[in-house]
Amino acid sequence: MNVPFYGHQRQYHNIQKEIDANISEVLESGQYVMGPMLKRFEQELAAYHGTKYAIGVGNGTDALWLSFMALGIGAGDECITHTNTFFATAEAIWIAGATAVFVDSDPKTNCIDPARIEAAITPKTKAIVPVHLYGQCADMKAIRRIADKHKLLVIEDNAQSFGAHGDGFKIAELSDATCTSFIIQKNLGTFGDGGAVVTNNATVDRVVRRLRNHGSEKRSCHSYGFNSRLDDIHAGVLSAKIKHIDAGNDQRRTWAARYTAGLAGAKSLTLPYEVPGYRHVFHLYVIETKNPAHRDPMLAFLNKNGVDAKCHYPIAIHQQEGYPWGKCARIVGPIPNSERNAACCISMPMFPELTQEEVDYSIAKALEWDRTVGA
Ligand SMILES: Cc1ncc(COP(=O)(O)O)c(C=O)c1O
Repeated sequence: MNVPFYGHQRQYHNIQKEIDANISEVLESGQYVMGPMLKRFEQELAAYHGTKYAIGVGNGTDALWLSFMALGIGAGDECITHTNTFFATAEAIWIAGATAVFVDSDPKTNCIDPARIEAAITPKTKAIVPVHLYGQCADMKAIRRIADKHKLLVIEDNAQSFGAHGDGFKIAELSDATCTSFIIQKNLGTFGDGGAVVTNNATVDRVVRRLRNHGSEKRSCHSYGFNSRLDDIHAGVLSAKIKHIDAGNDQRRTWAARYTAGLAGAKSLTLPYEVPGYRHVFHLYVIETKNPAHRDPMLAFLNKNGVDAKCHYPIAIHQQEGYPWGKCARIVGPIPNSERNAACCISMPMFPELTQEEVDYSIAKALEWDRTVGA
């Protein structure tokens, strides 16, 4: 059996009528950039998050650095995050001209460890950038407390956890801006690139809107800006898909529970941890080999047996060749958890349209590997 890692076509076929209808509506409208479909989707996005504003942009990376710029973060400012995230989190800090300051991640959730943040704060610190990694929220209550104490901004990198929530907090509730990616593989993804900022901050809304559109709020009038807009065709796809996001996330949770029950006896593996009271939406179902030396052979075994497992992310940002490429970066303290996560992670196939047979086959192959290595 071959188990794919992504199910984009399966998802398209399941809701093809709704997607095609929205695409057709855009095509027939004659308005493809900053048109009515984008406006409609922005309203749906803000309503989904319970925020006052949502602004569609070109991709999740732009959502981050446009938010940083709108909040006045630039050269000389420091933003605290961690290195076992997708590269774009740090990249966006550097694009904004700021310094990326890395602290360790939590050993269980792999999100930023709030207990490590205060030691990294200096007079130059401007913001904390928590990443809701793999589908689970970072500890936003603790992060907000630290931010309030030190008068820092908080920008949530929510590329991976659309539809998740914490214990008593929602995404976008405790931050200045929340940034999302709609690249196809995300829980809410379009057929290409896209991104958005959701916020309750009127300045972020106004400035990101202006920056994404060549610094323009009014035809022919410009200030410094960029071109980073969410196209209406993508907005139409996303408007159709957002109606199914909660059901899709529920299905991911069902497959995650099946993986966890099936792999419970595996001696050589650590399984994902869900914080009590949180809704983990399993953008990725990431297991770890207890022994880093087992990771590559296990991945090869799964792939050889038709299970298209992958790694997110096997090379942490500070381990990338050439780091930090002349950009401003600082690591505070040892970061063994981020390094362990990079060395040991394996992402099992995870998307709502998987079949039970595919999940069970993937579990069986992981267990077969586990039996060969023992503890
Ligand atoms: C954690 C994280 N941040 C930022 C991004 C950047 O998003 P995009 O690829 O849409 O620029 C991604 C995904 O690609 C991501 O996973």
